[in-house]
Amino acid sequence: MVVILVGGQWGDEGKGKIIDLLSEGADMVIRSQGGNNAGHTVVSAGQEFRFHLIPSGILYPDAACVIGNGVVLDPRVLLEEMEQVESRGISIDRLLISDRAHLIMPWHPILDRLEEEQRGDDRLGTTWRGIGPAYADKIRRIGFRAGDLLKPRFLEKKLGFVLAKIKNPILRDLYGVEPLDREQILREYTKYGERLRPYLRDIFPIVQEALARGDRILLEGAQGSMLDLDFGTYPYVTSSSPSAGGALTGSGIPPTRVDLTLGVFKAYSTRVGYGPMPTELLDPLGEQIRRVGKEFGTTTGRARRVGWFDAVVARYTVALNGIQSIALTKLDVLDELDPIRICTAYRSKGELLRYPMSNISHLKHCEPVYEELPGWRSATSSARKPEDLPKAARTYLDRISELSGAPVDIVSVGAARDQTIWMDGSRLGALRDSHKRLQPVEQSQDQPR
Ligand code: IMP
Ligand code: MG
Repeated sequence: MVVILVGGQWGDEGKGKIIDLLSEGADMVIRSQGGNNAGHTVVSAGQEFRFHLIPSGILYPDAACVIGNGVVLDPRVLLEEMEQVESRGISIDRLLISDRAHLIMPWHPILDRLEEEQRGDDRLGTTWRGIGPAYADKIRRIGFRAGDLLKPRFLEKKLGFVLAKIKNPILRDLYGVEPLDREQILREYTKYGERLRPYLRDIFPIVQEALARGDRILLEGAQGSMLDLDFGTYPYVTSSSPSAGGALTGSGIPPTRVDLTLGVFKAYSTRVGYGPMPTELLDPLGEQIRRVGKEFGTTTGRARRVGWFDAVVARYTVALNGIQSIALTKLDVLDELDPIRICTAYRSKGELLRYPMSNISHLKHCEPVYEELPGWRSATSSARKPEDLPKAARTYLDRISELSGAPVDIVSVGAARDQTIWMDGSRLGALRDSHKRLQPVEQSQDQPR
């Protein structure tokens, strides 16, 4: 059984917690795109873990944790993370790294930052981790792959070419900064190769065997569909495909093997970095939500922009990814708000639109159309069953299901594992009843439109 988990907004939907919940029943968890721009926070047994690269499934003793070919990997950061996990008594024996994954090389973060500086007021607000430059080199076919770390002679030759002919001239002549030293990088990366050797594999046969056995495979998405290179708010996007399609190309799993696509959404919207966000709240209410929701980035510590739940975005990402089921997080953050608004459409040039437009200047200037719902003004953080939720909160969830086109099946009301509500008639019932069984789910006939 294969489950794809995607972020339905601009990242930071709380995927880490949901991945953690689902990992308990998984045989294999695969990260398929992004790099250490991601930050997944998981609270397990009272301890907080922050992962940038290692799949959160590492917290369970059985799941194989794969860093897939679609990831861009900073070996220094990965090694630090491995040490951190081990130092807390968790084995990393089950970690596998695709030898096809591309590497973040020392020039990538440098160029990320320099390019952002060049953009001035038009900067994207990247995480400066070198993600965009690394993917750009992959596409240009001058990238380094994880498997190259085990081939010192090849590494030396290729480094010579890429540094001397491409990267150092750019650093020195275009930006006037220090060129990079081949020998030093060679030494550093060869050392990384030695340490990562036990984990580096051709993942293809491993995934094929898992599929043949009918293993429970979870494809763990990073970022969110609105940051998708093609379908997000280009150029204010990340350089990978955080959508369901990217989960497949980033792992080598064929589309015909996917059983369930689960979308994670936050009960309101957040965004880090620049780019259009129609429901953004630039007022004290926005500040209140940011404070209550602790909306500061896991990776960069930046304050996140916050706004109302945008059902136009949700309708779009549900349709784009074929999301069949929604996990809605941080509902408790809205506990004190009254009324609560949901954006149902955008008004742009006299027209009402159901989907975000591809033209981002239209998107930037559109007017969100809101529907107002009563707040519930009571704490939901101790709710464990649907009946524990106030009626107004259930109405809010129903409205999100109707407007987005997929049922809200899981609701999270706090960071802890048990602060989770499996909704009535949840098509994920099998998953709830036995954490060890991820059953294929029937496509329901009466999905709300
Ligand atoms: P990059 O991925 O570092 O190139 O950044 C591009 C854009 O994606 C910026 O707006 C980042 O803030 C945003 N971004 C990248 N990774 C994440 C994430 O994991 N969560 C939220 N935003 C992200
Ligand atoms: Mg995050």
